[in-house]
Amino acid sequence: MKVLRFQADVETDDPRFVHLWEAGCCGLQQDGPDVLATFPEVVNVPVEGTWEDADSTDYVGRYQADLSPVAVGPLVVAPTHRHTTLEAYQRVVWLDPGLAFGSGHHATTRMALAALVDADPWDREVLDVGTGSGVLAIAAAVLGASHVVGVDIDPQAVEVARVNAERNKVRGDWRVGSIDVVEGRHFDTVVANLYAELHAELAQDYVRVMRPGSVLIVTGILDQREDLVKRALGSHLRLLGRQQDDEWVCLQWCKD
Ligand SMILES: C[S@@+](CC[C@H](N)C(=O)[O-])C[C@H]1O[C@@H](n2cnc3c(N)ncnc32)[C@H](O)[C@@H]1O
Repeated sequence: MKVLRFQADVETDDPRFVHLWEAGCCGLQQDGPDVLATFPEVVNVPVEGTWEDADSTDYVGRYQADLSPVAVGPLVVAPTHRHTTLEAYQRVVWLDPGLAFGSGHHATTRMALAALVDADPWDREVLDVGTGSGVLAIAAAVLGASHVVGVDIDPQAVEVARVNAERNKVRGDWRVGSIDVVEGRHFDTVVANLYAELHAELAQDYVRVMRPGSVLIVTGILDQREDLVKRALGSHLRLLGRQQDDEWVCLQWCKD
C-alpha cells in the first residue's frame, strides 16, 4: 500500500480529490494539516505531495476507524465498529470498505443509493457493475431485491463485497470481471458507479442486460462529460431523472 501526503482539508470540496478518486484512491484521511490518500500502488496523479510506504502504519484501519454512518432515505450505511442507532423506518447496511471503493460517503455512491431507493428494487433482480465494497448491491438486497449480482474487475474488491454481503446476511452472486460475465442474463435494475467514458463504452452492454421496463442508474459522471453518456445511451433508453452533487452527476434511464 502507498500513501500520498499533501496539504488539504478532507472536509472541503478540494478539486484535487476528484483526480485521486478517479485514479483509484481507496480512502482519504486527515493527518494534522495533511491529507493522506491511500492507493494500492503509486499512481500518476496531478496532485503535488510525497509518497510514503503505508506498510508500517495501518492507514486503512485508521481510515475505517474515522468513518461515520451515512443516511440516504431509509438506508443507513454504517461501519461495523460504530454504535449506530436506527429509527424504526431505517434499514442498515453494515459495511467495512477495506481497500475497496464504496464507504457510502462519496457523492456518487450517495446519489446511486438514493436512485436505488427511488427505483424500489423490491422483488427485482439487480446488477451492480463496479461493485467495489458491494455497497449498492447489498443496499438493493436490504431493500428487498430478489437477487443481486455484483461484478468488479478488481478481485480484492469482489472479496470485500463478499465479506460485506455475509456481514449483512445477504445472498448474492459476486464475480470478478465486467458486465460481460453476466452475458445472456437479464436484470430489472442495473446500477453502475464508474466514469463517463466507461459508461459510453458499456452502453450497448447495459441495454443488452436490461428487460423492457428495466431501470439503469449510472453515476461517477463529471458534469463536463455528461453529454458523452447521454449521447451513448440516449438512442436506446429514455432518460428518467438526473441528480447532481457538486461536479458529480447521476442519471436514471428506462428501457421502454
Ligand atoms: C467508483 S467505484 C464504485 C464502488 C461502489 N459501487 C460505489 O458506488 O461506491 C468503481 C469500481 O468499479 C470497478 N471497475 C472499474 N472498471 C470496471 C469495469 N470495466 N467493469 C467492472 N468494474 C470496474 C473498480 O474496480 C471500482 O471498484
